[in-house]
Amino acid sequence: MLKLPGLTDPHVHVREPGATHKEDWDTVTQAALAGGVTTILAMPNTKPPIFDEATLNLALDAAKAKARCDYGQYLGAGPDNSDVAASLAPQAAGLKMYLDSTFGELRLDDMTLWMPHFQKFPKSAPMVMHSESRTLAAAILFSAIYDHPVHIAHVSLKEEILLIKAAKEKGIKVTCEVCPHHLFMLSGAPNEERGKRKEGRMEVRPRLATQEDVDSLWANLDVIDCFATDHAPHTLAEKDGDNPPPGFPGLETMLPLLLTAIDLGRLTLDDLITKLHTNPKRIFNLPDQPETWVEVDENAVFEIRAADQFTRCGWTPFEGWKVKGRVCKVVLRGATVFHDGKILANPGFGRNIRK
Ligand code: NCD
Ligand code: ZN
Repeated sequence: MLKLPGLTDPHVHVREPGATHKEDWDTVTQAALAGGVTTILAMPNTKPPIFDEATLNLALDAAKAKARCDYGQYLGAGPDNSDVAASLAPQAAGLKMYLDSTFGELRLDDMTLWMPHFQKFPKSAPMVMHSESRTLAAAILFSAIYDHPVHIAHVSLKEEILLIKAAKEKGIKVTCEVCPHHLFMLSGAPNEERGKRKEGRMEVRPRLATQEDVDSLWANLDVIDCFATDHAPHTLAEKDGDNPPPGFPGLETMLPLLLTAIDLGRLTLDDLITKLHTNPKRIFNLPDQPETWVEVDENAVFEIRAADQFTRCGWTPFEGWKVKGRVCKVVLRGATVFHDGKILANPGFGRNIRK
């Protein structure tokens, strides 16, 4: 039996408010605990998006009533909320900036709209960038110009990880996360897989990348500060429909996949603890969780099945994958919250990390 500290996932799409048919604060925190994750940081691209005091309270009230693990809620950077966002910083997990994809009210069409956020958001509070490829270079330049730390979400490309490495070597205050699906899945499936693979289910942003990209992530593990799921649940009907939305669920599969990589010698246990506990705690200023740990049977071999999961979305891109390493028990702040496949924490047990 292996004992791990409580894990943090700094990138989770909870879907409440607005899309609780995909997931809500109850189901997402059950999925988190089943995956050994005791703290989640929730993204602001809900309906409505979280960008001011009223919408922040909408999310936090739902979380307070329903969450079974600890949580924080990001604010989204919009075209005209830089003052409000800065004033709400102490109550939020951080500020999320969607720099290239347009996203409803959280659209930042040009760089003049980034400037007030970089000027006003407190330097000690986390700023997380959705910035791919060349936009990532711009985000790093902003970090250097405004002397504001930035955290780059879901790095997936060789050019991205190499640029972050170079920026760190220059002393620029940049940190980053990589998602398990970008470490374990490829854009092009082998021919015999193609027919079986439903392409809508493979839609995710950033897109799955090439073998060369995946290899460079593994070769630069020391540049990766955190692992994060980008848990982005959509229902199977939506994924298999005409206009499949991008996103994968990931909370319940991250730890078994990474433990399997450890078993194969691709990763060390120390890497796992650093990137899922120590580093996120430092980067996101998270409080201690006393008497909190995760017990893992590192020799348990099993196949990943959506039917065994707690997420409401009802599927996983890793269906049928054989993994080694099962979460047996999770203790959070002295209480057994997950044991032998059963959730034991009640809704409302989870605490806001900024309270
Ligand atoms: C995210 C979602 O579904 O909210 N999807 C995804 O593929 N990662 C959107 C996003 O984070 O941009
Ligand atoms: Zn995301």
